[in-house]
Amino acid sequence: MSDDSLTIVDNRTGREYTVPITDGTIHATDLRQIAVEEGDGGLMSYDPAFLNTANCRSAITYIDGDAGILRYRGYPIEQLAEEATFLETAYLLLEGELPSSEQLRSWEDEVRSHTYVHMNVTRFLEGFRYDAHPMGMLLGAVGALSTFYPDAKNISDPVNRRLQRVRLLAKMPTIAAFVFRHSRGLPYVLPRNDLDYIGNYVNMTFEIGGKHEPNPVLQRSLEILLILHADHEQNCSTSAVRGVGSSHVDPFSAVSAGIAALYGPLHGGANEAVLRMLDEIGDVSHVPQFIEGVKAGHGRLMGFGHRVYKSYDPRAKLIKRVADDVFEQTGLNPKLEIALELERIALEDEYFVSRKLYPNVDFYSGLIYQAMGYPTDYFTVLFALGRLPGWIAQWDEMLTDPEQKIARPRQVYTGPEVRDFVPIAGRG
Ligand code: ACO
Repeated sequence: MSDDSLTIVDNRTGREYTVPITDGTIHATDLRQIAVEEGDGGLMSYDPAFLNTANCRSAITYIDGDAGILRYRGYPIEQLAEEATFLETAYLLLEGELPSSEQLRSWEDEVRSHTYVHMNVTRFLEGFRYDAHPMGMLLGAVGALSTFYPDAKNISDPVNRRLQRVRLLAKMPTIAAFVFRHSRGLPYVLPRNDLDYIGNYVNMTFEIGGKHEPNPVLQRSLEILLILHADHEQNCSTSAVRGVGSSHVDPFSAVSAGIAALYGPLHGGANEAVLRMLDEIGDVSHVPQFIEGVKAGHGRLMGFGHRVYKSYDPRAKLIKRVADDVFEQTGLNPKLEIALELERIALEDEYFVSRKLYPNVDFYSGLIYQAMGYPTDYFTVLFALGRLPGWIAQWDEMLTDPEQKIARPRQVYTGPEVRDFVPIAGRG
């Protein structure tokens, strides 16, 4: 018998079972043989919110939450943030290797040639109310792209899948910028393909009267933020993309599900919630009182804590450095002082220390986005732009993984036993 196995004794029956251990996991379906009597379906594992269940094998992103390590395809996030461009990082995530300079040039050209969207997209964006949440508009518009590209349903053809991935990468910034302009009542600015990926996006958001003076420091800072968000293995929104994509729907619909998951305040919506929290605190002198309230169970310290990182989120460390560069350009954001004081107190407080709650990627990103001129309810759109390469790389990996099937968790039924329907007159 190999050592890489687990022996289980079922105390209900006294029977012993041996199941193989592969890569530090047992296969949950191996538990099905552990039954009390024939036909009872066997043992299941119960794991609400997937606290200890690996849903896939993945070669894309490595995280060690205790050590605060994040790598894309083996490359440390710190090096990518320092050296790479966003499109280079997207290529790495999607293709598995860094591009040569020739490959990068043709990749950039390929993406550039798909930046325009059908003008009907602008027409249905117009149907949204002036105060529609940008994430609601983004998820609707990206989902609607599937109606413009019915060929995207052909998910079994790798060439077709690649085309749809390029379309998504190229068109999301255009839609995101249109959403921004819609919220402000400004005319849409069409893509300028003489600009790079970030420069074109920033131009589409901020150009007024045909003019926009780019600030290279702010553009590089935005690019670093997008790189830091580009993938994060099996998080809530990526699991949504994989789960929805596992039904073999087109990638626009699957990514739209990812955007919906990201919208929530416990996920990508946290950067928006951080800013609202800082507004609510109002002044640095109110920080101790706010912390006491959190400890007493009145809300959470938004931007703190993470399901995986139980030490400082490596992205938060890098973002703090970006914040210095940005504030040097834009002047200090008074809320930064409140954020720094919150962090200082929380990192010393037994409540947060014992629960291993550290600042996550969202704690400082909102302050930076605000300084760049983006409104609070738009922050998560920027997160979505950053996370897109990860979503589509994971979607493709899921579809090409022979072990994957349509995602379909089991349940432990806790409702009533069978009972007879009572006609309304007899219900008391
Ligand atoms: N503030 C105060 N207490 C917290 C916080 C927080 N931000 N986060 C967790 N806790 C406490 C919980 O109350 C719980 O305490 P208890 O053991 O006394 O009941 C304990 O820490 C464990 O919390 P869980 O909710 O079990 O942790 P989980 O791993 O499920 O949650 C999450 C992770 C959702 C990120 C959580 O820390 C949170 O809500 N943080 C605030 C929202 C946020 O910043 N989200 C962004 C995440 S990063 C991202 O999506 C990019």
